[in-house]
Amino acid sequence: MSGVRNGVKLARKFVIGNKFQGLPKLGDLKIVEESLPALGKGEILCKAEWLTVDPYMRAYSTFLKSGDAMPGAQVARVIASESPEFPEGSQVVGNFGWRDLTISKVPPPEKQSADSLYKMPDLKGLPDSYALGSCGMPGVTAYFGLHKICEPKAGDTLVVSSAAGAVGSLVGQFGKIAGCRVLGFAGTKDKLTWLKNDLGFDEVFNYKEVNVFKTLKEHAPKGVNCYFDNVGGEFAYNVMKNMAMFGRIAVCGAITVYNDNTGKPPLVPVDYFSLIYKNIRMEGFMVMRWNKEWFQGIEKVRDYIIQGKLKIQETQVNGFENMPQAFIDLLEGKNTGKMIIKA
Ligand SMILES: NC(=O)c1ccc[n+]([C@@H]2O[C@H](COP(=O)([O-])OP(=O)(O)OC[C@H]3O[C@@H](n4cnc5c(N)ncnc54)[C@H](OP(=O)(O)O)[C@@H]3O)[C@@H](O)[C@H]2O)c1
Repeated sequence: MSGVRNGVKLARKFVIGNKFQGLPKLGDLKIVEESLPALGKGEILCKAEWLTVDPYMRAYSTFLKSGDAMPGAQVARVIASESPEFPEGSQVVGNFGWRDLTISKVPPPEKQSADSLYKMPDLKGLPDSYALGSCGMPGVTAYFGLHKICEPKAGDTLVVSSAAGAVGSLVGQFGKIAGCRVLGFAGTKDKLTWLKNDLGFDEVFNYKEVNVFKTLKEHAPKGVNCYFDNVGGEFAYNVMKNMAMFGRIAVCGAITVYNDNTGKPPLVPVDYFSLIYKNIRMEGFMVMRWNKEWFQGIEKVRDYIIQGKLKIQETQVNGFENMPQAFIDLLEGKNTGKMIIKA
């Protein structure tokens, strides 16, 4: 627990102990205490309520050295305030990192964003934790990444990898709303059952058990119109080989290579012939490019959930101190839907 020593408030935060080699290990991250100063004008003291672990943290960690803090967002309660805009008791979504207590200067309204902090969106009764998942960064990623880059149309065949994860499970459901035939790939039987029976995916496959190239040849004989790529690697190559004319590929993530240990840039084969003669558009993106439309995205997803058009699942872990295990579990596929931590 964070607390007070000799009248000084103490925060706990996770920092890199040993730089990750391959899949992170529990001992690679350590908790350190930090004394917090008195609040200055325009500052707020925030107590984490919900925290998130996301695959990008593993990719980003290659830029971190021993002693650096782990990055990440949280839903936090303002427990002391020198800012009239964020009074005591209000909630924020803050990019504070893996820490339980944070003092943050409140940026001017035009600078409040997912990069800094913003007021807790009005989730109209949905759980607060959704502000880090469907009604937060992963939701915005899925909504804009699919609609703006894949541009799904009724009758299109949409393929989603890591389909039972935070982003993928939303992408597939948006695809169904758009009238697509949705093929999802995930790594366990339970995930496939959820995708098919609860979320309405048309066909689902365990990528660990099937030959992806042959599966798509058989189940998408006219080709894949939209591919939402969460994984990269050989999987992406096999989808590329099965794209339809004028297909669109949204390059969202490359989790197949995040734990790469070779020290060399991870390369994915690209089938140039297919890209050229089928007029394929393949576009990478960072969700922050939709900063200006962030809240529109959140409201859209929130309203779909409230209307019953989207189903949400979370894998919840209790306790701030369990964040490293939750992070490892996420990278190993133990989550269904969003992996979330209750502080
Ligand atoms: N570009 C952006 O701005 C942006 C924003 C958010 C997320 N992303 C990316 O989107 C992807 C999904 O993120 P998320 O937050 O929704 O995570 P997630 O899908 O909820 O969790 C990660 C999942 O990846 C799967 N996985 C792990 N290793 C794999 C492998 N070698 N091959 C295939 N699947 C593997 C696991 O599921 P299985 O059981 O199915 O293996 C695991 O549950 C990630 O690549 C992430 O970096 C990008």
